[in-house]
Amino acid sequence: MVNVALKNVSKRYGNVVALEGVGLDVRDKEFLTILGPSGGGKTTVLRLIAGLETPSEGEIYFGDKKVNDISPRDRNVSLVFQNYALFPHMTVYDNIAFPLAIRNTPPDEVKKRVKEVAELLEITRLLDRKPKQLSGGEQQRVALGRAIIRKPDVFLMDEPLSSVDASLRIAMRTELKKLQKTLETTLIYVTHDQTEAMTMSDRIAVIRSGKIVQIDSPDVIYDTPRDDWVASFIGNPPMNLIDGVIGANGQVQLSGTQSSMMLPKSASADKLTSGAKARIGVRPEDIHVSSQPLDGMSCIGEIYLLESLGDSTIVDVKVGSSIIRAREKAGFRAQIGDKVYLKFDDRRLAIFDSQTGTRI
Ligand SMILES: Nc1ncnc2c1ncn2[C@@H]1O[C@H](COP(=O)(O)OP(=O)(O)OP(=O)(O)O)[C@@H](O)[C@H]1O
Ligand SMILES: [Mg+2]
Repeated sequence: MVNVALKNVSKRYGNVVALEGVGLDVRDKEFLTILGPSGGGKTTVLRLIAGLETPSEGEIYFGDKKVNDISPRDRNVSLVFQNYALFPHMTVYDNIAFPLAIRNTPPDEVKKRVKEVAELLEITRLLDRKPKQLSGGEQQRVALGRAIIRKPDVFLMDEPLSSVDASLRIAMRTELKKLQKTLETTLIYVTHDQTEAMTMSDRIAVIRSGKIVQIDSPDVIYDTPRDDWVASFIGNPPMNLIDGVIGANGQVQLSGTQSSMMLPKSASADKLTSGAKARIGVRPEDIHVSSQPLDGMSCIGEIYLLESLGDSTIVDVKVGSSIIRAREKAGFRAQIGDKVYLKFDDRRLAIFDSQTGTRI
């Protein structure tokens, strides 16, 4: 059990910059997820922590110990990849026992540990089977068993659930989170799936183009994204981003529309000079759609599309030249083309600098 720290770590492959100046402090026993789009550098971070790559610059620490020059074998980390590569000719028992067997662990000890791990993962009845006699989810559990049997200091997992089907993935998310709390081992988990990140993590590090853009708890990332890119990457549907121009008296004219609205008092109005461009961010669930005019901040549009999700309905409203998406209750009724009024919950608005994208 250790905390893991990356200090100003960069990684270059020839002239490809995979990571640039990454700082990351993973706490002891924490479930930290690295979330970002393809090519962002997620796997590179894991490979550096595992010791499969060396940083071009910067330092990696496990606790107080700098591990840059320590071999993967001596770092006591366990890796689980997307393709969990079980040994096909070995039984489940032997697959799980493998990491102990190659370290010359006494047979009695191996037997005891395999039994414990199999019970924890509820796969005792599968121990005599070969991998090809298992479902995808069962294979996944065996791979986890093989990773945890050694009691590593740190677990590293790279999209381990991406090849299991949707319903199993949801079940496995819960299991993994429970497992991590039971084992009390630091876990660094990589995914590009924001729902996985939101549901399992203590904290999320959002990475983009080799740089970490925000590290916070899922709630903080959702409620106060640091910039408009994080705002639009998290959430399904993502945060609406509407460009506008600041007018007099704290009003904002929404670009491409006839609508203007008052900015909330909470907005740092002093930083917003009249005539400045700004980008307003509002989450779909913080918009109310009504056929009647509404008090406060509202703008007018027409129904463009309705999408029922069962427990709620996503309402696409065309406002001027842009589409604003709102989440309404299930059973929301309207016709395409109906004139509607949108009211934004002003306590939940985000305002971003149009040029830099940074939250104001
Ligand atoms: N061995 C390598 N040689 C050259 N470039 C590499 C190498 N490994 C990774 N890269 C580059 O580094 C960048 C980051 O790659 P990485 O695999 O870390 O991304 P990722 O976030 O894991 O993406 P994905 O979600 O697709 O797995 C990419 O631009 C990739 O092309
Ligand atoms: Mg990857």
